[in-house]
Amino acid sequence: MCKALVWISGASSGIGRALAATLPWQEARLIDISRSEPPAGEHLEADLADPDAWKQVGRSFQRELAGWSGDRVVFVHAAGVLEPIGFAGEVDTDAYTRSVILGSAAGQALGHMFLAAARDIDAGRQLVVITSGAARSVYPGWASYGAAKAALDQWVRDVGAEQDLRGGVEVIAVAPGTVDTGMQAQLRQTAERDFPKRQKFVDLHQRGELADPDQVARDMWALLDRGFDNGAVVDLRELTPGHHR
Ligand SMILES: NC(=O)c1ccc[n+]([C@@H]2O[C@H](COP(=O)([O-])OP(=O)(O)OC[C@H]3O[C@@H](n4cnc5c(N)ncnc54)[C@H](OP(=O)(O)O)[C@@H]3O)[C@@H](O)[C@H]2O)c1
Repeated sequence: MCKALVWISGASSGIGRALAATLPWQEARLIDISRSEPPAGEHLEADLADPDAWKQVGRSFQRELAGWSGDRVVFVHAAGVLEPIGFAGEVDTDAYTRSVILGSAAGQALGHMFLAAARDIDAGRQLVVITSGAARSVYPGWASYGAAKAALDQWVRDVGAEQDLRGGVEVIAVAPGTVDTGMQAQLRQTAERDFPKRQKFVDLHQRGELADPDQVARDMWALLDRGFDNGAVVDLRELTPGHHR
């Protein structure tokens, strides 16, 4: 039986919640990191748009991994927001700043803290970042969101190469496709002026073409089990075309 210790940021809803609900190991301890109580597992309450909160996450990694023995340690960074959707120079400055900090910086800082805490652990160790096709496509209204995902993608490529040289943690960024979560619902309610490509997502929803979060989560866990090149940035839609749009 595989004994696993898993942190998921953003397991209170959407894809993170589905990942928490579909953990493939029988003996798994799950710790959610988010602002609201998750439906399952332990909860570390943290507003990750506030850098002061990152330290308590780092302490959780250190505390739980000190002397830990088991087979698998995983940190999935799924927490993210689209807000504020709108053009740079037009949206609220405080909200924009929070989005830049959460989207671009939190994943790098928390990922670093996880790598530091997991360095001497004798177990399979994986660091997973949820990215997006928005890292490579142009979406007016999503500039900081797309830039954040592009930054995380490059961070994963570089850190994967570093871990190949020394460290040995497997690092991957996974784009899940277009998934039926609260984030998508929020998108459909956005004014076209703030997000001119909104109709594309309304149409996907109307045609029933949004991916099911639980299926996405199962495909992600299967991908981690199958193995990957360290530092890979993968799009789940290209790996499991039957399941995702
Ligand atoms: N849905 C899609 O189509 C899609 C496509 C590509 C990529 N993604 C990515 O997938 C990830 C999950 O998105 P989702 O669709 O599942 O969205 P979601 O349902 O809105 O879930 C977002 C999660 O992030 C957490 N979060 C947001 N702000 C936070 C903060 N300041 N501090 C801590 N946690 C915070 C939320 O928890 P609390 O509100 O409780 O804090 C929630 O658990 C995101 O990184 C997103 O960019 C989604």
